Amino acid sequence: MGWFFNALNSSIGKKILMAITGICLMLFLIIHLVNNLSLFGGEQMFNNVVKNLDTIKPFIRVIELILLLVFVIHIFNGVRLWYENKKARPIKYKINAISKNTNIFSRTMIWSGSIIFIFLVFHLRTFWISFNLGHPLALSHNYYQIVVLAFQDPVYSIFYIVALIFLGFHLKHGFQSAFQTFGWNNKKYFPFIQKLGLIYTLVMVIGFMSIPIYFLFFYGGK
Ligand code: HEM
Repeated sequence: MGWFFNALNSSIGKKILMAITGICLMLFLIIHLVNNLSLFGGEQMFNNVVKNLDTIKPFIRVIELILLLVFVIHIFNGVRLWYENKKARPIKYKINAISKNTNIFSRTMIWSGSIIFIFLVFHLRTFWISFNLGHPLALSHNYYQIVVLAFQDPVYSIFYIVALIFLGFHLKHGFQSAFQTFGWNNKKYFPFIQKLGLIYTLVMVIGFMSIPIYFLFFYGGK
């Protein structure tokens, strides 16, 4: 077992762990977006989707635990990599500051990641806790109204919209970086990976953003 933990502790081991956990989180986001887009199908449709998921609760709980573990590994490892890189390069290289291999997305991963983390704390408090820990509207299976109430608060919705821009920054670099770690950085495939990353990022950001925008500006009640 010792060799395994040594491998994970090596620089490449940490990068592989970041790539695997990052890909898991990107897959989760696709499923999460598809589920949430059922909000556009109206109150009944969304409440039914959540109620149906409730019938497989033990399975959902296991997935949530795995997801939590994946998030913890991704964040812990990401902070460690950032810190080690910072220590290895204590003097900011001004002349090369805008180096060829970095861009605004890659240089700000720690900050976009931190904003996503803060977003997640608020997000889980609003939704996961309300949906699962006895909010009166959840007890009467009126999940849709919990979403309406949250997003009709302009401060909350604007916070989401801003956080999602940072999510976009994080995904744009994270996507290609994960594939780069697995060696897909040759001249032939990399432009394709970059394009795919951009499409994925735009679909996620615009898809998730459409929800607070809809409830804040266009939702007119039942
Ligand atoms: C406007 C966009 C979003 C809406 C309306 C939304 C809605 C929800 C809801 C209703 C839940 C509770 C589900 C349940 O317990 O049955 C939830 C949970 C969760 N959300 Fe979101 N979400 C959004 C964006 C995001 C984003 C961008 C992320 C990640 C960066 C995220 C991560 C999570 C996680 C990790 C959970 C807990 C796991 C789960 O219960 O599925 N969400 N979200």
